[in-house]
Amino acid sequence: MEAQGTSEWWSEETVAVVTGGNRGIGLEVCRQLAEKGLTVIMTARRPQEELSASAQQFLQEAAQLGRKKVIFHTLDITQRQSVMNFVDWLKLHVGFIDILVNNAAVLNADWKFLEQNNVDMRTFLDYTQVHPPCLNRILEKQESAKDCIETNFYGTKRVTKALLPLLRPSSYKPRIVNVSSVYGLLLQFLRDDELRKQLSDTEGLTEQKIDEVLDTFLEDLKSKQAMEKWPLKVPSYTVSKIALNAYTRLLALELGDKACVNSATPGYVMTDMTFGTGDLSPAEGAANLVCVALLPAGGLSGHNFLEGKDAKF
Ligand SMILES: NC(=O)c1ccc[n+]([C@@H]2O[C@H](COP(=O)([O-])OP(=O)(O)OC[C@H]3O[C@@H](n4cnc5c(N)ncnc54)[C@H](OP(=O)(O)O)[C@@H]3O)[C@@H](O)[C@H]2O)c1
Repeated sequence: MEAQGTSEWWSEETVAVVTGGNRGIGLEVCRQLAEKGLTVIMTARRPQEELSASAQQFLQEAAQLGRKKVIFHTLDITQRQSVMNFVDWLKLHVGFIDILVNNAAVLNADWKFLEQNNVDMRTFLDYTQVHPPCLNRILEKQESAKDCIETNFYGTKRVTKALLPLLRPSSYKPRIVNVSSVYGLLLQFLRDDELRKQLSDTEGLTEQKIDEVLDTFLEDLKSKQAMEKWPLKVPSYTVSKIALNAYTRLLALELGDKACVNSATPGYVMTDMTFGTGDLSPAEGAANLVCVALLPAGGLSGHNFLEGKDAKF
């Protein structure tokens, strides 16, 4: 099934929050939701005056077009206080939200090392190609691995939990879109049956189990041998997105028919994260997320969309 909405259930009263709107796909998601007439709360980890030129331009153009419904607020998803400030501001000035697009993320890798060794980014990111483990291992440092897991998984979960009470009940249901990756496929990249079983078990999965898996991963990073069960390529990014996909399913089950919670992968997109390599423009990648955010009323929940198409986890 494709995530193409037929009836426009949204209006300018529909409020969408987007994280990581400063550049790349997040900025384009903000632009497309605004063009479709929704109220967009664009967030980024830096204050408005420090936003990228493209983000500044977007906000200026929205103001010139009289789109009073594009609003900026700072939100660093890794900072508890920043999340609390955002929630307080939302409660006071907006009151509720209908859509949350959890887009903000980092891909930690020693890109300088890759450049210095003339490693082609497209080849490196191609998950169908295997590189010597030494190449992959050298790219993962404990601190940056922690940062990656903290941002992509715990930061996303923190924002989601903080905003759950603000999801407005409605007949078309509020939506949470967790921006994921092909690397987040639950069964493909973990090289250990038990881990795969734990994370793809919808019945027995708990938040605590996901956390334990992540703790074990960070511990195992210290040992070459222990890393044999974890993904070969960009392991912490991959593990963070696998954990996020597992959380999507868990949260969808928990919320039942109160909300649609889905993972969505934009495709391989030309942004800073991919060093400008990719098959899709940021606008095309964003469209693959926007269609999931705007699924028809009463749409699917607990699903994984790859480039706009309903796919397996
Ligand atoms: N590009 C691809 O091919 C691709 C493929 C699959 C999935 N994805 C996913 O798509 C999403 C967007 O990726 P992208 O390619 O647009 O990446 P990007 O160009 O690197 O942009 C990432 C955005 O996330 C923001 N961010 C990072 N940490 C943050 C934090 N703690 N709080 C708030 N914002 C934070 C960054 O803020 P600053 O601008 O302030 O640094 C930046 O605006 C990510 O979830 C990524 O994993 C991308």
